[in-house]
Amino acid sequence: MTIASESQLATVDASDMLGAIRTLPAQLREGYARARDARAAIGREWPHRERAGRPGPRTLIVCGMGGSGVGGDLLGAAFDVGVPVIAVKGYELPSWASEDDCVVCVSYSGQTAETLSCFRAAVDRATVSAVITSGGELGQLAAQHGVPVVGVQSGMQPRAAVGVLFGSLAGVAEALNVIDDAEDAIESAARAAQAVIDLHVGAGDQDGMTVQLEDDPPALAMARQITDATAVIYGTGMTVPIAWRWKAQINENAKHPAFANAYPELDHNEIVGWERAGACGRWAVIELLGPDILPQNRQRMDVTNGIIEDDLVASLRFQTTALDRAGATFELIVWGDYLATYLALVNGVDPTPVDRIQRLKQELAGA
Ligand code: F6R
Repeated sequence: MTIASESQLATVDASDMLGAIRTLPAQLREGYARARDARAAIGREWPHRERAGRPGPRTLIVCGMGGSGVGGDLLGAAFDVGVPVIAVKGYELPSWASEDDCVVCVSYSGQTAETLSCFRAAVDRATVSAVITSGGELGQLAAQHGVPVVGVQSGMQPRAAVGVLFGSLAGVAEALNVIDDAEDAIESAARAAQAVIDLHVGAGDQDGMTVQLEDDPPALAMARQITDATAVIYGTGMTVPIAWRWKAQINENAKHPAFANAYPELDHNEIVGWERAGACGRWAVIELLGPDILPQNRQRMDVTNGIIEDDLVASLRFQTTALDRAGATFELIVWGDYLATYLALVNGVDPTPVDRIQRLKQELAGA
């Protein structure tokens, strides 16, 4: 079933995922402010400057899964990080992790098995610096071990809380001397997010006039082009982790198959795989271009498109308008969230519930 009218779309969005997207700018600012309260504790507990004779830790390790883990990937996209940021998405810390490194554990629910396992390992190795959570077992364990906690409000889907989780992580990373000027960057991210929201809700204020949308919101028009196609998201440089976020949002919101890959590597393998794409279904490629794209990679995208376009039902491209990395990151995040949500709605799918994730967690917990 493909849904056409705006009122039908609103009925399908029973838990208001579109409304959650509109909160992202405020979430970013709130997350950064929440981290501010924990910063003194972070500095007191983990004075790496004095301890290791360096201006920051050797690495920042961000442990978290799904919507909570994505911040670890996005940090390096949005900021010029001073040390390697390693996103751990599993049960174990890297074997080399020690007290020279800082571990931050992020779990919206505080109940995620992999993140709890990493937290325990990080406590054992005296390397855990902070926890970002709405509570749960992770919140309790952190309190028990005297680990600084950035508390976020419960009641959202973790992936829809990306703004507050990312703002919090940026505040923590700044306190650990991994990034600088986080407040300005978060503000820029919030403004860029708002600009995309305005394009979609028709509330953009131009020259003192409120602009109403006359046509479909732009991401809805794009979603209509890929309703029955597997989406493949391509990034390059800073947009690679954002391509993974789009993939995950299309999976979770639209309950739709999606995959991600990166230029220039895909030009050395995946480009050949498209030859039999038609025999394997219908496919759409979406490319994400950031402000600092290398000219060589842009040329590759153009040439690759010319070679594969006949194998695809749609080929879409997003070029950011924000010129800074934090702004460009959240400009693309919001576009991706809208596209994934509208793709759900046009296919008659409620974007909010993720029954299969819940079922899996319950079965693994033996419930
Ligand atoms: C659900 C979602 C999931 C969760 C993941 C980990 O909206 O985004 O990817 O984020 O299952 O759970 P939390 O975030 O509670 O640690």
